[in-house]
Order: sequence, then structure tokens, then C-alpha cells
Amino acid sequence: MEFKAVITSGVSLAILLSYIYIITSIDKYESSDLPAFKKPIESKQIHTRRIKNSEKQFKNTLDNKNQWSIPQQRLEINTALKTRHRGVFYLKVNKAGSCTLQAMFNKYADKHNQIVGMPCSNSGGERHLVGWPEPFKPEYLIPLSKNYTYWEHLNEHIKYSSKIKQVMAPGSVFVASIREPLSHFFSYYNFYNMEKTYEGYLKEPNKFKYFLDNIKTMPHLELIHHMPPSNPIAQCFGIKQEEQYNITAIQEKINEIEKEFDLVILAEFMDESLILLTECSDLTIEDIVILKNANVRNIKKSKPVLTPTEYENLIQWNLADSMIYNHFNKTLWEKIDNFGRHKMAIKILELDMAKSIKQKECDSVQRKPNLTRIEDLKIKHDCMIPRLNYIGADKYFRNKMTEKGIYDIEKAQKTCKYPPNKHGE
Ligand SMILES: *[C@@H]1O[C@H](CO)[C@@H](O)[C@H](O)[C@H]1NC(C)=O
Ligand SMILES: *[C@@H]1O[C@H](CO)[C@@H](O)[C@H](O)[C@H]1NC(C)=O
Ligand SMILES: *[C@@H]1O[C@H](CO)[C@@H](O)[C@H](O)[C@H]1NC(C)=O
Ligand SMILES: *[C@@H]1O[C@H](CO)[C@@H](O)[C@H](O)[C@H]1NC(C)=O
Repeated sequence: MEFKAVITSGVSLAILLSYIYIITSIDKYESSDLPAFKKPIESKQIHTRRIKNSEKQFKNTLDNKNQWSIPQQRLEINTALKTRHRGVFYLKVNKAGSCTLQAMFNKYADKHNQIVGMPCSNSGGERHLVGWPEPFKPEYLIPLSKNYTYWEHLNEHIKYSSKIKQVMAPGSVFVASIREPLSHFFSYYNFYNMEKTYEGYLKEPNKFKYFLDNIKTMPHLELIHHMPPSNPIAQCFGIKQEEQYNITAIQEKINEIEKEFDLVILAEFMDESLILLTECSDLTIEDIVILKNANVRNIKKSKPVLTPTEYENLIQWNLADSMIYNHFNKTLWEKIDNFGRHKMAIKILELDMAKSIKQKECDSVQRKPNLTRIEDLKIKHDCMIPRLNYIGADKYFRNKMTEKGIYDIEKAQKTCKYPPNKHGE
């Protein structure tokens, strides 16, 4: 199955334009390939529309806001009975289905009123980064108030470190997603506008191919958001720059991921991966339903055709990512075999059925403008959460955590590099 997948003369204008580019492109091209050499066309209107959309989406979710008080009580009872749903740490690897998966995990976190971690380590257009490119430290998150010890949900852009295990609720499930090296790197190259960063080094007619043909002379230049030009997946998993071509170190990293993560999702086998997720977490089939989303455009995939040498160069440039992919492609299929291929096929049918039921449900509440029944409002809310883009979701969870007294905003003024306001924003 195909996977679908601010700031205000010359310098400030440049900052503004690049900010708009980043903001509007971040989930727009998520998990979809751009045709080669076509620069993303961005405009201010798109940005404004996006902000407006997220405002609107956000307001919609508030229809159901009075429910927050109920879950607070339930939260305490659940803690007492130890029936809380297991937490989820999702390592957000860009261009590997991460927007879709982030939205899915947001829905689960909201449904079970989980304690969601939000960063306070970066500012402006980089607000969503958890201290990146530094490995995770707890002070990168808005601190929790006294009654809470652990985070139950963390799915922001972060550099993995074993410290994450210490701050996540015991029993939390650790999940990451990766993607086949050529699709991933091509998508990443476009998304992070590598042609701009490597402007002086590339030649027409096909700059991507030129990059690969001349890989041995290409320097390692830092991209926007401090992203690395090579092995972005391995670097999300916390491999050090100087280790990215060291086979021993890469193998050690793979062993660490194998040990620390419950599941590595492959974007090419999303359904199978998600079924396996229901086996190793508290997510149900209904929780892994992903509906078509306006935030994730399904641009037809058009990977460039590479010569064997170009492909080999791409693999060498992204050696750590390729090794990680090969390993987890192998283990995914081992897991699928252990699960049973026939059973897998049945579960995927079940998932398809759950999708069409949910789609009908969401369409029906969308058609009715004037909902009053609490059940309808709840359905609308549940359909809305996964449709929030990352700006909207960020705002939603920051508000929710703050209003419920989960975040200690006062303490945050001391511990955060960029402290949140009284709404957690
Ligand atoms: C912490 O929990 C106690 C006992 O349940 C409660 O009385 C108190 O109000 C809570 N404090 C906060 C800040 O939520
Ligand atoms: C490669 O990594 C291993 C394990 O971390 C380390 O012992 C070794 O010194 C590294 N080799 C080089 C050439 O840096
Ligand atoms: C992933 O594994 C499957 C099954 O072993 C194999 O057929 C496929 O070629 C692998 N994909 C890549 C991109 O290596
Ligand atoms: C919403 O419902 C009320 C009462 O049923 C009705 O008066 C009003 O016109 C409706 N509004 C819309 C936008 O349908």
C-alpha cells in the first residue's frame, strides 16, 4: 500500500521570508516527494492561511473543552488503580511519515489525557525543537508541577538520548519511524532546501544528480534548523557527527536502538508497522486509524532515476542511515513473520474497515454545522485533533496542560531558556 502519507528593512525581510518558508513547508511536503528540481513555491498568503486554519481548527477543538475537567478526575482515579494507558515516546524523524504519525499519537494522547511534553528551549520558528541539535535534556521541556513526575507523551523534534527513558512514565513505549534511503534523502534534500545551502557547489541541469556525482568533493554544510546534510535519521537517534561513517559506532547505535525502542516503523510498510504497534503498546486498531489529512498532501511520488554509481554514492553519504534502514527492514519482516502473515492480512482488513467507519463518522459531524449533543461534540473533537497541523496541536496541548495545572509555569520562568506565557505558549 502506498504510504500517504515571526518576526518582522533587508535583513529582517530575509529572516521573515525564510521563516515563512520553513513554517509553510514543514508539514506541507511531509512524506511526499517533490518532483526533481522544482523549488517549493511559497507565499505569504499560504502562511497566513495556515495560521488562520490552525486558529480555526484550534477553536473547533474547544467546543469540547469543558470535558477537560472530567478527565482530570478520571486521571486521579486511574493513577490509583494503575489503569493509565502506557505512555508513548515517538522519535520524530522528519520526512519519514512523522507528521502523520505525530497526529496519530496526538489523538491517542488527547483521548487518554496523557501528560504531554512541550519544549521551551527554542524560540520563534524553531519553537518546536527540543534543544536540537543538542541531545535531550529535561530542562528543554516545560517543567511539570509537583503532583506529576513523568511525561507520558513526547513526540517533538528531539535528538535521542538515554535520558529520555528517565523522564518518561515507566512502561512507556518507544517508537521511531524511518524510510528507505533514496526516497528519504531525496525528500529531505528538497525539504531542507539543500540546493540553496550548496548553491556554489552545484551545477545544472540536474543538481541532485550533480550532488551525488561529486559527493567526494562535497563539504558537510549545516542546513536550516541546524539539520545535518547527511545521515539525518542516525542523528535523530543521537549518533555523533564524527561517528556517522564509523561502522563500529553505527553498529553500536543499531544495538542501542534495538534495545531501547519497542518498534521502528517503516514508512513503506506503514499499515504492517502500525498493526505491530497495537501489539506492543496500548493503542488499539481504532487508535491507529489515519484519515486523509489536509495537512499532508499526497503529491505523486517521483523519485529520480539514479545510475548505480549515484545510488552507491547516496548510500555512502548516508551510510549510518542506510545501515539502520537495512537492519530494521530485516527485523520488521521477522516480526511480521512471527506475528503471522495471514493474521497480518486480516488485521489490515480490520484496519481498513475501522478507517471507513471513522471517515463516515467524521464526515457526518462535519456536515452538521450546529452540534449540540455532547456525543456529537466529542466525535467532532476526536476528528479534529488529528487534523490539527503542528502549530495548532502545539497550541492545543500547551493550553490543555497549563489549564489542567500539569505545567508549572512559574517554575518555567526560571528553568526555561524561552519561558512560556501563562497559557503555556
Ligand atoms: C496535588 O494533589 C493533591 C492531592 O490529590 C491536591 O490536593 C492538590 O490540589 C494537587 N495540586 C496541584 C497543583 O494540582
Ligand atoms: C569508531 O567507533 C569505535 C566505537 O565507538 C571507537 O572505539 C573507535 O575509536 C572509532 N574509530 C575511529 C577511527 O574513530
Ligand atoms: C526490505 O526487506 C524486504 C524483505 O526482506 C526486501 O524485499 C526489500 O528489498 C527490502 N527493502 C530495501 C529498500 O532494502
Ligand atoms: C443552530 O441551531 C439553532 C437552533 O436549533 C438555529 O436557530 C440556528 O439557526 C442554527 N444555526 C445554524 C448555523 O444552522
